[in-house]
Amino acid sequence: MQGLFIVIEGIDGTGKSTQARRLAAWYQAQGREVVVSREPTDGPWGTKLRESAASGRLSPADELEYFLKDRRQHVGELIRPALAAGKVVILDRYYFSSMAYQGCRGFDPTEIRRLNEAFAPRPDVLLILDLEVDRALERIGSRGDSANEFERRDSLQQCREIFLSLTPEPFAHIIPCDCPLDEVTARLQQVLIRVGQATAPPGA
Ligand code: TYD
Repeated sequence: MQGLFIVIEGIDGTGKSTQARRLAAWYQAQGREVVVSREPTDGPWGTKLRESAASGRLSPADELEYFLKDRRQHVGELIRPALAAGKVVILDRYYFSSMAYQGCRGFDPTEIRRLNEAFAPRPDVLLILDLEVDRALERIGSRGDSANEFERRDSLQQCREIFLSLTPEPFAHIIPCDCPLDEVTARLQQVLIRVGQATAPPGA
């Protein structure tokens, strides 16, 4: 069986991690072996990055470098081996987040992409969860979190625009998600069936 690489992206508060878990269960029900992971990872570089969200951000150059180091390790230790073993790999964030968030800090998103694609495989399907920034901030607030250093309104607006600019790519799909979670899940499943990366349930 061939591996399948799915990436879920979008600004904070769009529900990426919930949808990643739901898609994982859906693929498991189709008899696939699934690995769900996220970036920043829980490895040494990812841990430093998460700490920086609470305690004060790194310089733009250090931040970009730490994300690259975290990803290099993730690709080598988890992503490539799982794909080679024929698994479905579902990621909550990947290098498109670097394009968006480090792009907001002054780096050219195209250059960020080039640096990443030198070692990081492209996903088969990129699902971009899209929501107005004010709605996303409301959701972050209502889950009891306060917006961290990565989540300021202006920069989220810019991040959203960078994510939306990815759609000319044939593997990228924008999924509006200002609707109940079940509806978002159904939309994601429809995209995956349409692009031939999942099987429609009998009778659908
Ligand atoms: P997030 O997924 O929000 O972490 P948590 O699960 O702890 O809520 O990721 C933390 C932040 O990292 C998020 O606001 C976006 C940022 N980020 C980047 O700036 N660049 C990147 O390449 C990645 C993967 C994330």
